[in-house]
Amino acid sequence: METPIRLQKYLAMAGIASRRKAEEYIAAGRVKVDGKISTAMGQQIIQGKHTILFDNKKVVAKEQLIYILLNKPKGYVTTLSDPQGRPIVTSLLLGAVKERIFPVGRLDLDTTGALLLTNDGELAQNILHPKYEVYKTYEAEVKGIPSRTAIQSLEQGILLENKKTAPAKIQIKRKNKRNSVIIITIHEGRKRQVKKMFQAVGHPVQSLKRLAYGKLGLDGLAIGKFKILHQNDIKRIFSKENPLQTKK
Ligand code: URA
Repeated sequence: METPIRLQKYLAMAGIASRRKAEEYIAAGRVKVDGKISTAMGQQIIQGKHTILFDNKKVVAKEQLIYILLNKPKGYVTTLSDPQGRPIVTSLLLGAVKERIFPVGRLDLDTTGALLLTNDGELAQNILHPKYEVYKTYEAEVKGIPSRTAIQSLEQGILLENKKTAPAKIQIKRKNKRNSVIIITIHEGRKRQVKKMFQAVGHPVQSLKRLAYGKLGLDGLAIGKFKILHQNDIKRIFSKENPLQTKK
């Protein structure tokens, strides 16, 4: 795995100190990278490529950080085990990934599409934290054709379990007499939110696929397949550009 990480994060992963404290150690000149004192905050480290010393002792991070995008098939649960014995998403990565990764958030059993998996708890927390408002874009096939008013109410926010949803971005991709395919972007992550939103305006979801986190889309990744992500991909997750332009 060649994902670069910042020096202070590397030190934190190795259990030297919290990231903040590690920054103090770096500033105090106690950390060397490849034999040279590094006081530059945020220097990028690739494990295995750089040698890091703290107070002249070698520092080894415990586990490589790894980031994966999976195109989840139907019928897989996004928990790490299942009392009912249904297949779990991590079984799709068996043999390919040795790190102990977990899914970032959830997708329903019958939802397909983009699912991030990582062992980076801090990144996972940021993606899920409401403060960062990470856009998630879905393609929903819904029953019927939602009226302009229904679309507008979803765009503005509707009451779900006594709490108004945050504004959504919506685009109708296709419609025929019986159903419509709608692209919807939300930044909240309430349980079964997309299904509940369409149900609430009278158009139950018949199938649901997550297309992207921010501007990180599936980009032709086949169902059941995964790819390892790099730092540029991670940045795209937090992009605030119009996600409806995201490639499917
Ligand atoms: N919203 C849903 O209703 N289901 C999912 O799996 C994801 C978002």
